[in-house]
Amino acid sequence: MSEAFEVDAERLRRELGELAAMTDAEPAVDGTAVTRVVFSRRDMQVRAWLKALGEVEGLAVREDAVGNMFLRMEGAEPELAAVGTGSHTDAIPHAGMYDGTLGVLGGLEAMRALGRSGVRLRRPVELVMFTSEEPTRFRIGCLGSRLMGGALDPTAADALRDRDGQTLAEVRARVGFAGDLASTRLAEGHYSGWVELHIEQGPLLEREGVGVGVVTSIAAPAGYRFTIEGLGGHAGALLMPDRRDALCAAAEVILAVERHALGVGATDTVATIGTCGVYPGAVNSVPSRVVLELDIRDTDPERRERAMRDLRSSITEIRARRGVRIGEKMVNADMPAQSSDEIVTAIEAVCGELGIGSRRMVSRAYHDSLFMARIAPIAMIFIPCRSGVSHRPDEFAAAPDIVRGVQVLAGTLARLASR
Ligand code: GLV
Ligand code: MN
Ligand code: MN
Repeated sequence: MSEAFEVDAERLRRELGELAAMTDAEPAVDGTAVTRVVFSRRDMQVRAWLKALGEVEGLAVREDAVGNMFLRMEGAEPELAAVGTGSHTDAIPHAGMYDGTLGVLGGLEAMRALGRSGVRLRRPVELVMFTSEEPTRFRIGCLGSRLMGGALDPTAADALRDRDGQTLAEVRARVGFAGDLASTRLAEGHYSGWVELHIEQGPLLEREGVGVGVVTSIAAPAGYRFTIEGLGGHAGALLMPDRRDALCAAAEVILAVERHALGVGATDTVATIGTCGVYPGAVNSVPSRVVLELDIRDTDPERRERAMRDLRSSITEIRARRGVRIGEKMVNADMPAQSSDEIVTAIEAVCGELGIGSRRMVSRAYHDSLFMARIAPIAMIFIPCRSGVSHRPDEFAAAPDIVRGVQVLAGTLARLASR
């Protein structure tokens, strides 16, 4: 076994705690929940905090036009392509404190550990904090990495609107990110390799007592928005047989989503209606319009499409029977990403050297690495999280698991940056 890079576990724990305290969740209601929506005051506070942490370490900090932040440590040969790592610090409403943040602060700690060790690295190492991995505000996930990887048209991105009707162009300009979004695109070869550290967000590592998951592929996510229009009216006066209640139709759509996802019969097919907007939203008014947002994912994109086709035929039937209109808008339909064999093997070799058990696995959650895979060879390092819980305030990763994850990340970055 070879020597592990020395991780300052206490400082990392403290920084994760400081970051978790920068939340818009209400402690009285939400306990330790984290809510941090892109370009909110909290998000901007975190950006300033992270930038300062990087500057203290002597890292060169740069931000692009959509607010992706790059913290760079030079290697002995600065002209070589960098090795990249990173994740996100935005959090969905009422989330936990490890999703994304571990990859950012753990990545920073891994870079510090490399610096402290005095190891000679040929390549630069770059830490990235991606803008809006979560779809909360602009309804599309991985905004920053999509742009970087060329998976989202810059003009279409600028035209995205939040729930208040403000465009991304307006919002980013207001918080100080100017410039053409086309400039956020990174060239293929900008990174010679990419590794993201993340909690598993699933139960397998904990259940099997394995220290590290090595991600071999990331499932294909898709998002759709359904607008259901019926007939509104007075909740007392509009007679039941005359109704075309949009929310009742939406309820059938929601159940059809569940039925078709289950009907596929594959563990990897998952579908969720996570938001439901009801108009006009008054208790004594029959809903005239409902907007549903569907998140559907699969390791096999064709199977995902089959589930969508089945759902559409149910929707046609619901529409006719209930006399409502149902419109469908595709938000994104992404392909899965495959990890690079070389990086997977490098992570496994580091685990072997450190005496840390590992197993290969698929990521059913999406990550910015899904889009980094378009421009660089990638892989991901997962660590266990309690009961597989994520996107909840009780999301938890134990300190020894975090330290192991950062050591494996540091060892992998060292390998990739030395060649
Ligand atoms: C990322 O947060 C995801 O929803 O997979
Ligand atoms: Mn998340
Ligand atoms: Mn995440």
